[in-house]
Amino acid sequence: MRRFPAQFQEKCVAVFRPELRRNKGLERFRVSVRNALGIALVLLLAAVVAGCGRPQFSEAEKRTIASLALSALPPLKSDTTNHYADDPGAAALGATLFFDFSLSRNGTVACSTCHQIGQQFQDGLPQGMGVGRTNRRTQSLAGVAYSPWLFWDGRRDSLWAQALVPLENPLEQAGNRAAYARYVKARFGERYERIFGSLPDFSNVPTNASPLGSATEQAAWNGMNDAQRDGINRVFANIGKALAAFQRSINPKEARFDRFAVAIAAGTEPKDDAVLSPEEIQGLKLFIGKANCSTCHNGPLFTDHAFHNTGVPPVADLPPDRGRVDAIAQVDADPFNCLGPYRDGGPEACGELKFMVRDKPELIRAYKTPSLRAVAGRPPYMHAGQFGSLGEVVAHYAKAPSSVEGISEVHPLQLSEREREALVAFLMTLSP
Ligand code: HEC
Ligand code: HEC
Repeated sequence: MRRFPAQFQEKCVAVFRPELRRNKGLERFRVSVRNALGIALVLLLAAVVAGCGRPQFSEAEKRTIASLALSALPPLKSDTTNHYADDPGAAALGATLFFDFSLSRNGTVACSTCHQIGQQFQDGLPQGMGVGRTNRRTQSLAGVAYSPWLFWDGRRDSLWAQALVPLENPLEQAGNRAAYARYVKARFGERYERIFGSLPDFSNVPTNASPLGSATEQAAWNGMNDAQRDGINRVFANIGKALAAFQRSINPKEARFDRFAVAIAAGTEPKDDAVLSPEEIQGLKLFIGKANCSTCHNGPLFTDHAFHNTGVPPVADLPPDRGRVDAIAQVDADPFNCLGPYRDGGPEACGELKFMVRDKPELIRAYKTPSLRAVAGRPPYMHAGQFGSLGEVVAHYAKAPSSVEGISEVHPLQLSEREREALVAFLMTLSP
């Protein structure tokens, strides 16, 4: 190696000084061998350098990466329990209702108070704030129509049945179904009837009545006849069906990771912002490998739509929260569930409800796996905003403390500080 520059010099000089070209054949042979070795070395180094910039994935890793791309998301299935799910008129009415503050007891709260359009349809608070402070974190609605169960604990089994809960929850919109049905008839009667058919006569129906309201509202509800109650419930269910039709259009946005994943799946070189840094690639490999994240956060929405106890601690000043285990009885008892009288279509759509896991110790403090799409843009995290940053979330998984009740499914991970940072860096690629 030491003589390489000298030879190089000699060769260059020889070009200009023909008398020096009188080298012996052997000498020439030696020079050309050394040159060939030098060139080979340079080529090898170049290949190594280029290889470092190019992600190296096994075939299995490539398949997993492709399965996480947004482009792998199948088209939304029709919802046979809601005939109006894909009716543009219903979706437009649903959009109006979603932003309508009159759908609350005091005229100050709408769905959009907590599900804010510019904030991934959430609010950035540890617990949602409506007429009162709720007990849980407002969920983002991007891709929500793909979810078979709604809420952190899955206590509703359809998007339309879910929408009816905040409308009457005293901490959210705090109204009652009789008042909502009357309001919709007075304000949107014509639009409603064009979609759902004729509205009942409410002239003998009390102004405020609900089986879930105050004592007076409950008494008013019990004082009505069956046909009146059914009439109100039907309009109430249709409000939910319109809101569901609107929410079916709320989709996650393509992220940097998706552009990367599409290139990897196609076997082409990622370009521009689709190039992931070595740290982001390390994080991705951990996510789908050693850190086991993709056992639950999988598929194009980064969720298995199932319930797991991950040992997230409770919040001191909130009421006890046991998650999925207490939601079972609630979804079974819901008159608007799939097996109830307000479902459209046949009962064959109710498999999820019929066959849901009803009693297993794993359901204690189990919560629905949230999507991780655009997750960096919406701290704080977990069902009651327990963690303020993605760093704290990853530290939680690394430590995997045992659950205060029930059994956590996650186990401690041996992650160096650099590996934890890499996981956070990867999670940030899931944003546009
Ligand atoms: C006061 C704030 C607030 C208001 C108002 C509100 N929400 Fe929510 N939303 C939340 C919170 C908090 C959760 C999670 C609650 C839980 O798990 O118990 C949630 C959950 C949801 C979910 C479930 C998402 C999922 O992935 O399971 C949907 C859908 C939803 N809300 C839609 C609506 C609609 C439609 C309205 C209006 C009719 C509405 N919300 C009104 C705070 C609010
Ligand atoms: C056993 C299933 C499971 C595994 C494994 C898992 N998660 Fe989760 N993840 C969940 C559940 C369930 C929640 C919600 C828990 C709660 O709110 O109590 C969650 C919440 C999160 C959140 C908060 C999202 C939000 O919007 O609040 C992030 C970020 C996250 N997980 C990242 C990861 C990472 C990174 C890994 C791997 C180190 C991982 N998860 C492994 C099931 C899992």
